[in-house]
Amino acid sequence: MSLRSREKRRLPVLVLPGLLAMCVACITSTIGVGKETPKPEQSAGANISPTREPGEENPGGNATTRKSIHTRGAFSHASNGIDFEGEANFKVGNAIFRKLWVSAPASTKSSDGLGPLFNSRSCQSCHFKNGRGHPPAANYPDDTAESMLLRLSIPPETDAQKKLLAEHRINTINEPTYGGQLQDLAIQGHDSEGHIHVTYEDVPVTLDDGSTLTLRKPAYTITDLKYGPLHPKTMLSPRIAPPMIGLGLIEAVPEAQIRANADADDKNGDGISGRANEVWSLEAERPMIGRFGWKAGVPSIREQSAGAFSGDMGLSTPIVTEPSGDCTQAQAFCRNAPNGNTERDGGFEVGPILFDLVTFYAQNLAVPPRRNLDDANVTKGKAIFHELGCASCHTPSFTTGKVDGQPHLSNQHIWPYTDMLLHDMGDGLADNRPEGMATGQEWRTPPLWGIGLTETVSGHTYFLHDGRARNLEEAILWHGGEARAARDGYDALSKADRDALISFVESL
Ligand code: HEC
Ligand code: HEC
Repeated sequence: MSLRSREKRRLPVLVLPGLLAMCVACITSTIGVGKETPKPEQSAGANISPTREPGEENPGGNATTRKSIHTRGAFSHASNGIDFEGEANFKVGNAIFRKLWVSAPASTKSSDGLGPLFNSRSCQSCHFKNGRGHPPAANYPDDTAESMLLRLSIPPETDAQKKLLAEHRINTINEPTYGGQLQDLAIQGHDSEGHIHVTYEDVPVTLDDGSTLTLRKPAYTITDLKYGPLHPKTMLSPRIAPPMIGLGLIEAVPEAQIRANADADDKNGDGISGRANEVWSLEAERPMIGRFGWKAGVPSIREQSAGAFSGDMGLSTPIVTEPSGDCTQAQAFCRNAPNGNTERDGGFEVGPILFDLVTFYAQNLAVPPRRNLDDANVTKGKAIFHELGCASCHTPSFTTGKVDGQPHLSNQHIWPYTDMLLHDMGDGLADNRPEGMATGQEWRTPPLWGIGLTETVSGHTYFLHDGRARNLEEAILWHGGEARAARDGYDALSKADRDALISFVESL
């Protein structure tokens, strides 16, 4: 299979960024000349100049970290401007994020309750250094999928299930035996559910200038299934752990600003029709806009964290109260195992105080400042980013609203480079597993801030929801569906312009 399209749309020669820099006022008129899409006056980047814009050096606004970002700790600093008490809470939250949980009953009551089924013993083992996870280097037992998980579900079978989905009360119907995700670990005396098995198929690509490269397309199965066969209609969705920076700022963007960029029916005709996911909030007891996870399936950091405690570690919290996590009715032995709920922790394994601290931590991992902003290649790359329509989904900036008790996150002009909306990314990236309103082809535009520090923090450059891309260029070339024109625009660039675009993305 080749990703090269037969009738590739040729982009016009790019206007010289130098000229653009000299003539900011002419940008809108210049870029639009001689092509059909993307129409700059209609794209999210319409009013944005490729030259330096006020505040863009600090993508997290005043909450951008002022500490060193040239080490593996680059994503582990607290929001700038956090007060003294906040700093202390951040530190305790960090300790809980790193805490290794053990099975119940244990002598350390504050750390027990793990499992019975789980993926990981701590948040940090997946979100290592608060950076990005990666796919396993080899299949079990040669490597483990330590920072990746497989979500499982089946299509609705009953009218009651269809109604729950239609009312946004649930996002998916769990696989009846294995639940909502595959747990590849279990406490002693229990069987883990099985192991992720991934194989890659080579996908040769020839770019417009004749240069060639090979993408790798993954396929997933599960081996060592210990609880019987999967439902025949089981849908799998592989996910690597996303980076943890700037999440409190993303959460603080007012819904109206996100909805303003949605264009579900593509009324502006630019081929890009972002829409918001609408998902049930267990805390608010109503549907809310989804912001977190690769398909925007979760409305808040608190609910994402409660979901992680439950699904990834088998721990109860005030939001997801079942101590046996993702064990299903079909796994009675697992549901009846001893748990770590204690009165001291409000009847949960992770009590309200610890839970609040860890979510506060997750809200306050600071965004790093931009690097090499004024480098000629970076400015040129920025012009190309807008020219190709990347900014139509990777929306450069927003202004956060008021966050109660957290003035340092409030009213900040931020530069996350995401619209937080769902986009059809084509067959190539499809997991064919719907989640809430997201179809099997749709993904949430991920933020790009900090992406240039991936190697520094995580020691690798695997990108996209399943880590299939081995570098930024591969990530761009996988874009399809609504992003096809942007991808083809990249394909049609000269080597120098491709490098400039990558330099810009690396400066984020
Ligand atoms: C087994 C690996 C794993 C563990 C353990 C884990 N996470 Fe995650 N985390 C993920 C994956 C994978 C996603 C993306 C989920 C999705 O797309 O559905 C994620 C997403 C998130 C997000 C949303 C980020 C975003 O940009 O959308 C937050 C917040 C988060 N995790 C917090 C936590 C906390 C807090 C813990 C510990 C209680 C934790 N995680 C434990 C793998 C893990
Ligand atoms: C139609 C919307 C859309 C357009 C246009 C678009 N992207 Fe994306 N981008 C996405 C989505 C959605 C993903 C996540 C896909 C996935 O993980 O499967 C993504 C992922 C990425 C990633 C990987 C991020 C990560 O965290 O793994 C990079 C880098 C990226 N895009 C850069 C670009 C560049 C550069 C352009 C312009 C050439 C562009 N994108 C155009 C929607 C878009």
